[in-house]
Amino acid sequence: MRILLLGSGGREHALAWKMAQSSILDELFIAPGNSGTRKHGKNIPIDPNDFEAVKTAVIDNNIEIVIVGPEQPLVNGIADFFMNDEVLYKIPVIGPDAKGAQLEGSKDFAKSFMKRHNIPTAKYGTFTKETVDKGIDFLRGMNSPYVLKADGLAAGKGVLILDNLKEAEKELKNMLMDSKFGTASEKVVIEQFLDGREVSVFIITDGESFKLLPEAKDYKRIGEQDTGLNTGGMGAVSPVPFADAGFMDKVHNQIIVPTTKGLKSEGIKYKGFIFFGLINVKGDPYVIEYNCRLGDPETEVVLPRLKSDILDLFEGIATNTLSERDIQFYDKSAATVMLVSGGYPNKYEKGKQIFGLNTVVDSICFHAGTKSDGPSSVTAGGRVVAITSYGKNIEFAIKKSYETIDKISFEGMNYRKDIGFDLIK
Ligand code: AMP
Ligand code: GLY
Repeated sequence: MRILLLGSGGREHALAWKMAQSSILDELFIAPGNSGTRKHGKNIPIDPNDFEAVKTAVIDNNIEIVIVGPEQPLVNGIADFFMNDEVLYKIPVIGPDAKGAQLEGSKDFAKSFMKRHNIPTAKYGTFTKETVDKGIDFLRGMNSPYVLKADGLAAGKGVLILDNLKEAEKELKNMLMDSKFGTASEKVVIEQFLDGREVSVFIITDGESFKLLPEAKDYKRIGEQDTGLNTGGMGAVSPVPFADAGFMDKVHNQIIVPTTKGLKSEGIKYKGFIFFGLINVKGDPYVIEYNCRLGDPETEVVLPRLKSDILDLFEGIATNTLSERDIQFYDKSAATVMLVSGGYPNKYEKGKQIFGLNTVVDSICFHAGTKSDGPSSVTAGGRVVAITSYGKNIEFAIKKSYETIDKISFEGMNYRKDIGFDLIK
């Protein structure tokens, strides 16, 4: 198979790494890719949101299937663009159409979908400029902390959790009246705060059947013990001990099945990944959010635990035969620690040479924000490289990643020193 993968982060490097192991891969192209993906295929310098450029790349390289890593092209309708194009309509896209991608692209859509299908989630209300006064009243009827969510995509920054009512009222007005998050906050979802432990669960589906992937826990805050600013994710582990069989049964019955059935009943033929951002409240799962793609850095621990050929699964999605495909996992655990640029998630410098990557043998270095500089790699983003390791349990996997990190350096390098520590007895 000739494959085009869209995206340039750690998730995409992990996807490229996994696809490169497939016996049915002929050639892999990554657009635009990074300094890590070039080891597994050919990087082509185009923007995944430039659909005409994607079309040209597909035709020029005889691409047979397109895998979409990030959410933006999906929410922008790349799958619809292919379906409605007289040349591209035969080329399968792994990723939902714009309607399906609304699960991530609109928090209000996701919440009303969950309500329609009785899927456990926090109580909420949605408000606009016109109903801002009702929004203020709604806030006053809630307890602290207050959860405000911009409806649309806001590069992971659209959720505010505030202890103080006055501050929450002010932020609600900022979002609705002063376009704090641009058009993404034309609608705001106000939600009940749920107290519990978070876990990320993933499925792949062809719109008919689905397969569950390994679950993962990610670490979003910049500082140890979950302190400081939110980031794209500072590390992840899989499996997650508190997502035990009883909990995962509830996830299957109360969340995954009603979601896939609900999509079907609403005429949405969803092909691709669904990421369930869940919270475990006293043993019961609630949906915090849906994403229409794999998570980052969760992918860097989920795919290393997948034993099966991922292209066989993608082919199953493309041909509506996923139910006939076999899926197997490794028993071993995986952990990843993200090395980030100094200053991230605030302002940081780029272009720093990364040393030591070639000396690593016991871990996998998934490039997140890197660029090639001749044979070497330089930093090109806030999150730079995810260091993934296996272990007989998560404790061993984490230990190995930290040992590997001692061999790697770049100016300003920062990382969390406590990934997974909360899960180790
Ligand atoms: P989201 O972008 O919806 O995943 O929200 C970002 C983060 O905010 C989540 O990963 C949670 O840590 C937190 N969060 C969102 N909604 C809630 C909620 N209702 N209760 C508690 N925490 C939440
Ligand atoms: N790690 C969370 C995300 O990918 O959104």
